[in-house]
Amino acid sequence: MVRDERLTDEQLHRIDERVRSNWPTGEAIDFEDAIAFHGTLPDHKQFTEVLESADRPLLQPRAGVPRLDDQIKLLEHLRTEGEADLLPTTIDSYTRDNEYEKAQEGLAEARETDEDTLNGFPAVNHGVDGCRELIQAVDAPIEVRHGTPDARLLAAITFAGGFQSFEGGPISYNIPYTKEHDLAETIENWQYVDRLAGAYTERGVTINREPFGPLTGTLVPPCIAIAIMVIEGMLAATQGVRSITLGYGQVGNIVQDVAALHALRSLGEEYLGDEVAVTTVFHEWMGGFPPDEARANGVIGLGGMTAAIAKPDKVITKSPQEFEGVPTKEANAAGLRTTQQLINMVIEQDVQLEGVDRELNLIQKSSRELIEAVLSLGNGDVAQGTLSAFESGALDVPFSPSDSAKGDVLPARDDDGRIRIFEFADLALSGDVKEIHRNRLDSRARTEGREQTFRMVADDVDAISDGMLIGRPAGGQ
Ligand code: 5AD
Repeated sequence: MVRDERLTDEQLHRIDERVRSNWPTGEAIDFEDAIAFHGTLPDHKQFTEVLESADRPLLQPRAGVPRLDDQIKLLEHLRTEGEADLLPTTIDSYTRDNEYEKAQEGLAEARETDEDTLNGFPAVNHGVDGCRELIQAVDAPIEVRHGTPDARLLAAITFAGGFQSFEGGPISYNIPYTKEHDLAETIENWQYVDRLAGAYTERGVTINREPFGPLTGTLVPPCIAIAIMVIEGMLAATQGVRSITLGYGQVGNIVQDVAALHALRSLGEEYLGDEVAVTTVFHEWMGGFPPDEARANGVIGLGGMTAAIAKPDKVITKSPQEFEGVPTKEANAAGLRTTQQLINMVIEQDVQLEGVDRELNLIQKSSRELIEAVLSLGNGDVAQGTLSAFESGALDVPFSPSDSAKGDVLPARDDDGRIRIFEFADLALSGDVKEIHRNRLDSRARTEGREQTFRMVADDVDAISDGMLIGRPAGGQ
């Protein structure tokens, strides 16, 4: 039975041996040698150092191509032409599914044809030496960004390869990403990842961990995202992680986004205690994008403006080609520059938004209710509490493909475009909170002269890609 307890050195070594034998490149991992390699990196390439000492929101794109030399060129382009502060290495889908054989074939094909036959960088196949070559060649800190439910080998190789930041977590890389992975198993797998990050940290190489805040990316109510971020943070902290970046995805209502980012930071600091350095990351809109690049730039610009007001530590940018999938390096750099322009212009201004405090109180109260429900269901054990909360629906994620979550909760926007909950199912929220959500949705229904039905939810899912914030009925009210 998985419990929220620190893995012992013996357990860590035992899992380590097993994980390394999953693919031949695993053999090259040597912990002492890795500590020494990290020690050779200059301060401006030490991830935590750069992130935690910044005095403005840092910008980071997503980017990954199969070949090493192309990945180096891509990242250098984003650094010089996009002025990215932090860089990513996005991992391909085969690696995310632990299909290293297929990733190897894709890599071989990419080398033969010069085409990007994988949708990311297969770091396991490149191995420790390939990763180190990338880290050495690029003049900024680089994070591993992926979506891998069982990321144990990926973590072992990339940490040894010199990466100092690693995205994901047991809930955020299970519930939104996969149908079949058992939640208890992913919690165990991530205990290893976090314990390994903890082991580096104890040796002076701080590995930053970043739970994936946007979850399904589709109208996720802030309290659900924040509760899951805090829970993943607690699980990571138990294993010795000391630098945690909690995430949140833009919903598009400025007041709600600013309030949610403040709530994320304050609850993170409250629950993770003094031992952990908590930072926050704001993801530009993760839902469907307008196909038109001009409109897409509008969505990105709103993200930049929101970031300038809320001041998260980091912003993950989108590109105007988001609708097409993986962007060209030029479009990717353009998304960074659009965001930077908005931040530069707005951050000089003292923007006071009405209603942030009220929204902040509501988000804090509801997030706390969910976190406390998890703790109480587990009798104080976060891992056990998480399992029973997802099983009972006390904690749930809308539009979740996973069998490990009920996926019964449904969100909809209110009359201002803030995300409210339309169907609570078994979510552990109090009557007071539910009443606020119901009233706000009632008032939208009255404005639109229609009933609250699933139609409203579906309209909202498409609204931004259709050029609006709220999915109003055709022809207006
Ligand atoms: N390069 C750049 N962006 C990527 N994304 C996924 N893979 C890559 C990649 N290799 C982005 C998508 C979307 C988000 C989920 O991740 O374009 O914005």
